[in-house]
Amino acid sequence: MLRSIVLGIGSYLPERVVTNDDMARMVDTSDEWIRERTGITRRHFAAEGEATSDLAVAASLRAIEAAGIDRNSIDLVLVATSTPDNTFPATATAVQRKLGLPVGIAFDLQAVCAGFAYAISVADALLVTGRARRALVIGAETFSRILDFEDRGTCVLFGDGAGAVVLAAAEQPGHVGDRGVLATALGADGRQYDHLYVDGGVSSTQTTGVLRMNGREVFRHAVQRLSEAAIEVVAKAGLRLADIDYLVPHQANRRIIEAVGKRLDIAPDQVIVTVDRHANTSAASIPLALDVAVKDGRIGEGDLLVLNAMGGGFTWGAALLRW
Ligand code: COA
Repeated sequence: MLRSIVLGIGSYLPERVVTNDDMARMVDTSDEWIRERTGITRRHFAAEGEATSDLAVAASLRAIEAAGIDRNSIDLVLVATSTPDNTFPATATAVQRKLGLPVGIAFDLQAVCAGFAYAISVADALLVTGRARRALVIGAETFSRILDFEDRGTCVLFGDGAGAVVLAAAEQPGHVGDRGVLATALGADGRQYDHLYVDGGVSSTQTTGVLRMNGREVFRHAVQRLSEAAIEVVAKAGLRLADIDYLVPHQANRRIIEAVGKRLDIAPDQVIVTVDRHANTSAASIPLALDVAVKDGRIGEGDLLVLNAMGGGFTWGAALLRW
């Protein structure tokens, strides 16, 4: 049967590093508070004029190189983002143009911090049904553009970045030992719309708006939804949580990640954490974390991974993937 297997991964963080001390010069906060409550030590902010598509392109070039493929074989570009270059066209078409990719399918997907989990699921559906052969699946964000730098409760939590994978349809034997995406699980609950949102938009205010959040409610739901999504996706494949080699969760807050690891009874050294070095980069956070763990040799071929995320909406999702 056809499975969507990862041929290569790449990521990119903008050059400008903003430390917690730098944030403390903007708002009434401290390095100690931010570290203790979130585990974050620094974030990267895009340069003036550096757009989400530029970050996406930089990550994609690395993913394509790692995959060792001819970029002309890419027939699907999917960008998960809540911070597109423009209202339209899709940032995916900007990426397509900047990379000189051939005519194919290209669109953006907006599920906020759950965007990469959603994008993997959608790309997988297109690949295993033969609608596309090779996909560039990207999470890319410039959240620094939608932060209120007078709100210490939110502006210290987010950063900019991008991560990308080349996902390709490949024949596999058709059992749980296969490489590739083995299962995905997605969900959303619009009743929670007001807990995490941007207070502007095209059809509401005709402004871009800034991020607003009820941190405590988000924290509570995040632990629950991230855990449930992981349990659901593993069960869908007829496997157990004990079969997983690594959990690669959305990188929002170290305390959320630790609580999820505990709830799922996954050992801390099997949970990938990179939030300390880039803060919450929304849809980019999973491929950023995944790239680090692949490059440092923790994740290798044959490893069974669960990627799980939750974001505004609320939206959540998970993918079970054999590397
Ligand atoms: N620096 C210093 N103090 C801060 C602060 C900051 N950056 N941000 C908030 N505070 C203050 C608050 O004003 C409050 O002070 P008060 O008690 O005098 O009113 C105090 O810290 C406690 O605030 P509270 O919101 O209860 O803290 P918390 O322990 O819940 O931690 C978050 C706040 C935001 C770190 C936490 O709620 C969280 O991580 N939520 C999830 C956020 C997230 O991950 N969102 C994205 C998901 S995709």
